[in-house]
Amino acid sequence: MKIISSLSVALLALIACIGLAEAKVSGKCANCHIMHNSQDGNPISPSPVNNLLTDSCVGCHSSTTGDTITTVGLTKIPIVWNIGASYPTQPLAAGNFNSIGQGSVNDSHGHNVWGISDADLVLTEAPGRQNCSSTSFGTGICHASLAFPPSEALGGTGKTGCQGCHTVVNHHTDTPAYRFLQGHESGNNYVMGIESPDWEQVPSSSNHNVYKGVVNPPDTNLATTHSMSSFCGGCHTTFHETDNLGNPWLRHPTDIALPEGTTEYNNYDPVTGYDPLVPVGWVNTANPVRSEAVVMCLSCHRAHGTQYPDILRWDYLNNCDAGTANNNCGCFVCHSTKDDL
Ligand code: HEC
Ligand code: HEC
Ligand code: HEC
Ligand code: HEC
Ligand code: HEC
Ligand code: HEC
Repeated sequence: MKIISSLSVALLALIACIGLAEAKVSGKCANCHIMHNSQDGNPISPSPVNNLLTDSCVGCHSSTTGDTITTVGLTKIPIVWNIGASYPTQPLAAGNFNSIGQGSVNDSHGHNVWGISDADLVLTEAPGRQNCSSTSFGTGICHASLAFPPSEALGGTGKTGCQGCHTVVNHHTDTPAYRFLQGHESGNNYVMGIESPDWEQVPSSSNHNVYKGVVNPPDTNLATTHSMSSFCGGCHTTFHETDNLGNPWLRHPTDIALPEGTTEYNNYDPVTGYDPLVPVGWVNTANPVRSEAVVMCLSCHRAHGTQYPDILRWDYLNNCDAGTANNNCGCFVCHSTKDDL
């Protein structure tokens, strides 16, 4: 156990020094590419697939087993959609689209994405969404759904589904973008962070992703903040605006420091006792200090899907009763005095 944790600390430190997100694939070309769209005389795909790939994003990153990392030779594939009746026991950091793939009854359990589900029947747009400034895509269609087919999304640019968020994929290069997450303008508007090498399949206080946060941002621009919350705010704009900062709060704050000096918040020191159920961001990902631990969207939500409404990380409806100690309620990790009377 000790060896594993010091190894992963060393690895995280190494990645931090290089400053690049380690996303490069390994393994034989034939694991992923097909040269003539033909295998033993039979076509693989009825229509062209980008880069002569054997499969689509969803095809490669899904599985009908319960495994959340599958292997083909040397290639390890992180699985984000385990197709079937049960939620996987070891979901990766972003959670899993399993629940969303089971139909509209679970619409609120995740982002509805093309290739996995139809559009959300309740939400007709991203709550708090940013409207389009351009009419060239058709009025009102931006940030309305990630379940539109590529031909209908953003004038046929294909930026929908998985690529609505992973806008610039780079499977063969290590780039500064955390998990290929970037806004749609080209430039340096990417998310920063340090990636756990097993995508948090087995998370612990020493094996976890390291997220970028900022403190009381003067602006919410992803190109300057590089924070995870700014990224979510690209579509859920009003949920991450500076008018949220104030007394009283209009919304639960994000991109603010976890206060020091009060019993309530002092009980969570993510530098020494990071809880992967309740992540924080850091002003300086390479040098996390307690005074710069930041509340962010992924402190309470996962990015893809969970078994719970509102893509929450824990069962907020059943585990979060004030005055009742419950280790499965993430709210109590920060609001550590609200679980006892
Ligand atoms: C684990 C899967 C995987 C393996 C193995 C793999 N590729 Fe790829 N490759 C991809 C994916 C996914 C893309 C899609 C575009 C991207 O993400 O850059 C791609 C894109 C490409 C591209 C076009 C984009 C670019 O970066 O130039 C070329 C050329 C390419 N691969 C060649 C190869 C060759 C040659 C090999 C073997 C030495 C290989 N690939 C092995 C997954 C793989
Ligand atoms: C041919 C199979 C294949 C296809 C097609 C493919 N991927 Fe991947 N993808 C992989 C593999 C393998 C990895 C793991 C790379 C590694 O070891 O870091 C990966 C990694 C990723 C990651 C995590 C990167 C990281 O930092 O660890 C994301 C995000 C991702 N893919 C998104 C996509 C999206 C979006 C598409 C469609 C545009 C796509 N993939 C298409 C095989 C594929
Ligand atoms: C590319 C646009 C886009 C980005 C980026 C985005 N979302 Fe969303 N989100 C949507 C849309 C569209 C909906 C409404 C339809 C749906 O649920 O899929 C939504 C719905 C949601 C919901 C409500 C789920 C439900 O169905 O009730 C939550 C919670 C959420 N997003 C959180 C996040 C978080 C956290 C991030 C950052 C990791 C994020 N979103 C990034 C587009 C986006
Ligand atoms: C709403 C935005 C959004 C959409 C849509 C989305 N992703 Fe992600 N994805 C993220 C974020 C944010 C992370 C990083 C989560 C973290 O580190 O906690 C991530 C992480 C990943 C990872 C790394 C494994 C993990 O769980 O951290 C893979 C692989 C991946 N995504 C593939 C996909 C594929 C394939 C699709 C389409 C089926 C997809 N994503 C759709 C936002 C999105
Ligand atoms: C402190 C925990 C927490 C943080 C941090 C947080 N959320 Fe939420 N979010 C919730 C809860 C809980 C709900 C369920 C609704 C409720 O109880 O108010 C929710 C609901 C949502 C919804 C659905 C709203 C609707 O109308 O159905 C979206 C979208 C969303 N959050 C996005 C975000 C984004 C984007 C961020 C970061 C800017 C964020 N959240 C940060 C806890 C949080
Ligand atoms: C990552 C830590 C963190 C998590 C998790 C978290 N909070 Fe908070 N919460 C804060 C911080 C920090 C503040 C702002 C404190 C301040 O400076 O006033 C806050 C503020 C609040 C407030 C407003 C308090 C006030 O003084 O106006 C409420 C209510 C609240 N949180 C409820 C929740 C609930 C419910 C959950 C679980 C869904 C939750 N929080 C999860 C850190 C967190």
